[in-house]
Amino acid sequence: MNRPRAEFLAGTEATAFTLNGRKVASRAPRASRLADVLRDELGLTGTKVGCNAGDCGACTVLLDGRQVCACLTAVGKVEARKVVTVEGLAKNGRLAPLQVAFQNHGAAQCGICTPGMLMAAADLLARNRKPDADAVKEALGGVLCRCTGYQKIIEAVLDVANRPALAPSPATGKALGARAGKVDGIAKLTGAEKFGADAIPADALWLRVIRSPHHRARFAFGDLAAFARQAGLDRVLIARDVPLNGFGIYPHIKDQPVLAEGETRFKGEAVAAVIGSRTAIEALDEARFPVTWEPLPPVVGLDAAMMEGAMLVQPDKAGNLLLDGGVKRGNVTATFPECAAVAEATFETTFVEHAYIEPEAGWARVVNGRLEIHVTTQTPYMDRDEVALVMKFDLQQVRIVPTACGGGFGGKLDMSVQPLVALGAWLTGRPVACVYHRPESMASTTKRHPARIRARFGCGADGKLMAVDVDALFDTGAYASWGPTVATRVPIHATGPYAVRNVRTRGRAFFTHCHPSGAFRGFGVPQGAIAHEALMDELADQLKMDRLEFRRLNALKAGDTTATGQLLEHSAGLGQCLDKLRPHWRRLHAEVDAFNARSKQENKALRRGVGVGCMWYGIGNTALANPSTLRIVISSRGRLMFYNGAVDIGQGSNTTLTQVVADALGLPMAQIELVMGDTDRTADAGKSSASRQAFISGKAAELAGLDLRRRIFAAAGAPPDEYLDRRYKLQLDRQFVVFRKDGIRHRLDLSRLPQDMNGDVLAGEGRFDPPTTPLDPNGQGKPYATYAFAAQIALVEVDETFGTVKVLRIVAAHDVGKALNPIQVEGQIQGGTVQGLGLALMEEYLPGKTENLHDYLIPTIGDVPRMDCILVEDPEPLGPSGAKGVGEPGLIPTAPAILGAIEHATGVRMRQVPVLPHRLKAELDARPGRRT
Ligand code: FES
Ligand code: FES
Repeated sequence: MNRPRAEFLAGTEATAFTLNGRKVASRAPRASRLADVLRDELGLTGTKVGCNAGDCGACTVLLDGRQVCACLTAVGKVEARKVVTVEGLAKNGRLAPLQVAFQNHGAAQCGICTPGMLMAAADLLARNRKPDADAVKEALGGVLCRCTGYQKIIEAVLDVANRPALAPSPATGKALGARAGKVDGIAKLTGAEKFGADAIPADALWLRVIRSPHHRARFAFGDLAAFARQAGLDRVLIARDVPLNGFGIYPHIKDQPVLAEGETRFKGEAVAAVIGSRTAIEALDEARFPVTWEPLPPVVGLDAAMMEGAMLVQPDKAGNLLLDGGVKRGNVTATFPECAAVAEATFETTFVEHAYIEPEAGWARVVNGRLEIHVTTQTPYMDRDEVALVMKFDLQQVRIVPTACGGGFGGKLDMSVQPLVALGAWLTGRPVACVYHRPESMASTTKRHPARIRARFGCGADGKLMAVDVDALFDTGAYASWGPTVATRVPIHATGPYAVRNVRTRGRAFFTHCHPSGAFRGFGVPQGAIAHEALMDELADQLKMDRLEFRRLNALKAGDTTATGQLLEHSAGLGQCLDKLRPHWRRLHAEVDAFNARSKQENKALRRGVGVGCMWYGIGNTALANPSTLRIVISSRGRLMFYNGAVDIGQGSNTTLTQVVADALGLPMAQIELVMGDTDRTADAGKSSASRQAFISGKAAELAGLDLRRRIFAAAGAPPDEYLDRRYKLQLDRQFVVFRKDGIRHRLDLSRLPQDMNGDVLAGEGRFDPPTTPLDPNGQGKPYATYAFAAQIALVEVDETFGTVKVLRIVAAHDVGKALNPIQVEGQIQGGTVQGLGLALMEEYLPGKTENLHDYLIPTIGDVPRMDCILVEDPEPLGPSGAKGVGEPGLIPTAPAILGAIEHATGVRMRQVPVLPHRLKAELDARPGRRT
């Protein structure tokens, strides 16, 4: 629980108001933010803070029944008024219909925006019991969600009028494939879920990071001790305090300092950290911090980094080159002259910000001589290893306890607050907490790699692809982070999901003086897809073939060999996806033709177009070991505990993995309790990234459930393979496991079995490491055990007067192998699609300039089109019940489909994203014989 803050208690004038039906009084100064009073003084952390600037809406509460941003509302303004927060929605322990609808529709993913969404919806529903979708969009327009794509939120609000009842948990053996509600959903809907900033100990010191204001600068400190004394600080940390001042994703690349030494390499890089009471830290005048800067000329952008004789960002990285990866197969040079059609172009993408609504936050403490870190993260085991590394500790000396994670998308795979709070706690002996503010989060954390991709595709007169040549350059920023992953993954995927024999692809990442580029939903594949899909359109046009049919002709299928020489033995469902889209494609084309004819006739500037984008995505790490281990145990009293190291960052793995383990075991998921991600209590399930948890941890969950079932049968004295007989129905009745088959009933008394120190009597464990092989120097090998495939259609409307684009419709067909939980799968597709829309049309992070969600635009509820999801299930035999993964695939085909649709509407092919209105307008105006 957060403690009441000292300055609040020192306030003299109490503000009395009604909070969730009860009279309360705040002693905080009347100008204090209501959000702070609710969270810090009154202990209601259901109200979230994503920006503290009125941009995100996460702090939305009701004031006299109307929605307001609690971060912009002074507590003095609520005197004698009624405030309702998310904690006040449920009455007498019963969820409000709105909360029930959110749970049933899967409207909460990570859940950080959910309280704000609920309160905005509650305001609407109090005034309009049967709103339509437009009214919902208008009412919820001030609350941002980065996960869901908003559609399920809209559906949930519309459903409230039907007075929904909470959908029951699936029955025994019926969990897989069920549209089950999230096992952790209720906590997200009631404000009970604890994110990184929500459960900081009352006695914690606070930490603030001092950061470079320059892209590159030499710096020197003044009298730190005197400053600390004057400011009432407990400690100031600088580089020499860090036992081993280098961390990084790869075992052989630890190039990023926790605190820079002597010279900074990006604007926002940490140079020092100050630690003190929260009051002292909040009162700190950073401008007085004793540091002098000597700005130096930075290397900014790919051209500067690659220039002959360019200054080196890292002195030991010649040519500023991080990595040069590629794939070679066949003979590209000899094949292009034989092609009937060749398309070639260069494409540019920019930095993209993850913009999760929860900024980085966490705290650390020392427990029995060990460090314990509670933090929002996608990867507790990597965090443990990295903290141990910089502290020069054994791994056993560090424990990571993940809090709920308010969105990650790859951005919380790298460390942020972890090493600093760990070091602070270790040196002070006190709990130390750090919560990034929004500008700090945006300035200091990783982004999507900007890319420049030159691509050349050639095909025969029959439309079959013959050759692909791609050279992809990436700006990886100041430190390696996930740059090597991007530079190796992109060449593998650069052909697109198509069969082609002659391939030469290359990926290179270059250092610059910008924040590190890292992992972001797709690891560079979305940038590559923009290139390959544009050229597929162009080849189809040259051959006068339908763009969808051209893709269908070339689609990889089971039995084909990929550019890395991998035989796709099964589960390659792009063809099925395109077949499902075909009727929509034809109908939308007919509608667009009619619309454009009308618009031209009426001399209007609106034009509509339809585009298609395809993708494939290798599930899991690239050509590396990728194991996951999960455990499920049963106690002498019949308590089932699922120890699940896979962190749920909103994608729903807590739920889907529970569904898998429940059915494998043969008991209902409602009887399974969950421990997630705690490195002391769970085994290593790897990171939540690369769309790997459903496939890899899903398989481990299946094996764990089966293993426990086997042990239960063995303990009951059954013959060795009897547990595989699914005619046995199990029931857990207190300490008894009851077996029923063909009218015969057996019973196992768990309390009679030997117990371990936790009281557990039987444990099942599952481990899965998908079969891959390393790539040879020509990129040949089996980098992934399986691939997801997808195709999406976009319908857009372009206003040629202004260069604006509105996406009106998305139809998304995804081969997911098996939809373990269709609600979660649809949510992933819709959320990814809307991030893809942002990538295509609006999101551009400008290093050193962009610093808030006011300037950095992500799609709002008003920007999203209707999205239809078509789930194709071409089962992957290795996966749990055939499942693959869907986290990243939702995003990848969207931007290509939108860009194709813009071209179809206007004749202009945009090769730089985002397609901001001024960029499109310039291209529209440059058309020969342009329309006016
Ligand atoms: S925290 Fe109040 S609007 Fe973002
Ligand atoms: S569920 Fe909306 S931001 Fe995550």
